[in-house]
Amino acid sequence: MSSKKSAKAEEKNEDMKGKVAIVTGATGAIGRSIAVGLANKSATLILPCRTLEKANKLVAEIKKETGNSNVHGEVCDLSSKESVGTFVKSFTEKFHKLDVLVNNAVVAPSEKKQLSGDKIELMFHVNVYSYFLLMTQLHDTLANTATERKEKTRIVNVASNYAGHLKVNSELRRLSHGSARVTGHSDL
Ligand SMILES: NC(=O)c1ccc[n+]([C@@H]2O[C@H](COP(=O)([O-])OP(=O)(O)OC[C@H]3O[C@@H](n4cnc5c(N)ncnc54)[C@H](OP(=O)(O)O)[C@@H]3O)[C@@H](O)[C@H]2O)c1
Repeated sequence: MSSKKSAKAEEKNEDMKGKVAIVTGATGAIGRSIAVGLANKSATLILPCRTLEKANKLVAEIKKETGNSNVHGEVCDLSSKESVGTFVKSFTEKFHKLDVLVNNAVVAPSEKKQLSGDKIELMFHVNVYSYFLLMTQLHDTLANTATERKEKTRIVNVASNYAGHLKVNSELRRLSHGSARVTGHSDL
């Protein structure tokens, strides 16, 4: 087999068959790529999107592209505590197990400071607080799945190379909102 064919076969391996993965922000650049990679490995994939329309479109595309029929859309607006809670409830009722949580969604900076519907600074809400909410609310499912399978489960938090100099309290208030530095402070 040529090295190109081996790479293709490698991509199509079934390493994740029977495993359940959530990927946030899968309508975006990096998240879509992660979702396609996991679908190619035969994972059962759950893709929380801002609207049902976006979720349905994305699910249809990924199913077609990868041939994996175990791809499911859910609605979850990461700028709303209530929406995260509703998503977690719906997910756990339907799937019971979780092997991988990929926190990947991101809000980029806008010129003006914006608040979420819950009155939290928008980038902090989506890029930090909702990552934390998903990790804590799905922790028991991840832990129980690990115990049942006798295998590690995992959380992957996608960050950017701007991250790493976090001074949430002072900096998010002070920095100008168009700047990449401000996203770096929120995008852990
Ligand atoms: N792209 C790069 O070159 C790069 C490099 C280094 C690191 N990263 C990191 O990779 C991650 C993803 O970046 P990206 O470039 O792929 O971003 P992107 O293309 O802008 O995608 C952002 C994703 O987040 C979703 N999202 C935003 N607000 C949301 C909300 N309130 N509720 C639910 N979903 C929401 C978007 O959904 P909608 O479709 O509804 O807007 C979209 O799916 C980030 O952590 C980023 O820092 C990216």
